Amino acid sequence: MFQTLSALPGGRIRGELRVPGDKSISHRSIMLGALAEGETRISGFLEGADALATMNVFRMLGVAIDGPQRGAVTVRGAGLRGLRPPAGPLDCGNSGTSMRLLCGLLAGQSFESRLLGDASLSRRPMRRVIEPLALMGAKIDSVDGHPPLLVHPVGRLRPAEIRMGVASAQVKSALILAGLYADGTTRVTEPAPTRDHTERMLAAFGVEVGREGSTVSIVGGQPLSGSRIDIPADISSAAFFLVAASIGARAELTLRHVGINPTRTGVLHILRAMGADITEINPRTIGGEPVADLRVRAARLKGLEIPPEWVPLAIDEFPVLFVAAACAEGDTVLRGAQELRVKESDRIAVMAEGLAGIGMPAQVKPDGMRIVGRGAEANPFAGGTVESHGDHRIAMAFAVAALRSSGPITILDTGNVTTSFPGFADMAASVGMRVRASIESGPGR
Ligand code: S3P
Repeated sequence: MFQTLSALPGGRIRGELRVPGDKSISHRSIMLGALAEGETRISGFLEGADALATMNVFRMLGVAIDGPQRGAVTVRGAGLRGLRPPAGPLDCGNSGTSMRLLCGLLAGQSFESRLLGDASLSRRPMRRVIEPLALMGAKIDSVDGHPPLLVHPVGRLRPAEIRMGVASAQVKSALILAGLYADGTTRVTEPAPTRDHTERMLAAFGVEVGREGSTVSIVGGQPLSGSRIDIPADISSAAFFLVAASIGARAELTLRHVGINPTRTGVLHILRAMGADITEINPRTIGGEPVADLRVRAARLKGLEIPPEWVPLAIDEFPVLFVAAACAEGDTVLRGAQELRVKESDRIAVMAEGLAGIGMPAQVKPDGMRIVGRGAEANPFAGGTVESHGDHRIAMAFAVAALRSSGPITILDTGNVTTSFPGFADMAASVGMRVRASIESGPGR
């Protein structure tokens, strides 16, 4: 089966919505809940394929999990040493977060595990976790640095002081989780701030996590105690609507209960610096994570040279930010974002190809892109057919582009939208986007 998104030109955005739960926090809620003693009750869980893959993996590791039922999940924790050897390979699907965090968590177990993923995940680099984990004594085999992986049982890990080579929350989190299984204090230094959900959630489970400047530290062997976790709406999913309402004619939209953790708000900084009209309403803290409602109104955007320190804070939002850049007055330049080349697809190449396919050529750089925006008056896109290369965020970004297109945009191979945003097309249509998902017979990817 082959899924397609069809987006008709124009549409007026208005109303309010709550996008699904945060993907990063959903993964971690299952993982930490599984390692805890006692029960963890989760609400707002993302019922998307990636987080469900993590849930399945922990069921295979012997953890009893009820749900998900309308975002409610109960995990009966097995304790730090309570996971059981799985009967077969652990399938992480499309999810890099599952695989990389599991490397750290499984490295200190007394049993062997095999980790595999789909075609996209099988192309993604794993040495970034395998090598630093080896400094702690972990032994993980790969196929030339790629999945499938074999995690050997090594008994106890040793603590280490590790300077990470890439700004990656997945790598940092893998090392912190491995640190739970090391005798002593593990210290991890990151080259730039990345999302800190693991650190915040461990604290909610009663684990002491130290932070000094760019170094996080954890003492191994600390027990986790079951907790309640209320997962906010994912700012990475909200980003599609932040851009849609910014570029759409006469738009006004409220996004409810969005996580605005400062390690995730690069998209807000970038859009605001481009002139977007976004107001945070009723800011609050829920379970250690900052949350607010976001009201967005149409605005005349202008191009921006994106400050490099914002890149890791907006790393998943660039596909749709490129769409915003095309609608802005003047040039937008992104540099220092070579990480985009190793996401679910090469998001620099795939976005450039798609933009060109709908009449908006961009200048590709090894580590970013230059887009000469067409301004608020004209429609920057002509319409056409775009190949998403099975990447959920590429597919949704081009659906947003239709708001400022002269012709329809058809996006191919969009089944993976469900990895992070089940129900995207219906939700988009409910606030005025003219988008529809359809399933055709024929070869999918
Ligand atoms: C994630 C971290 C980011 C992000 C991914 C989710 C996480 O990856 O792109 O979608 O949950 O830790 P990197 O940390 O590898 O940049």
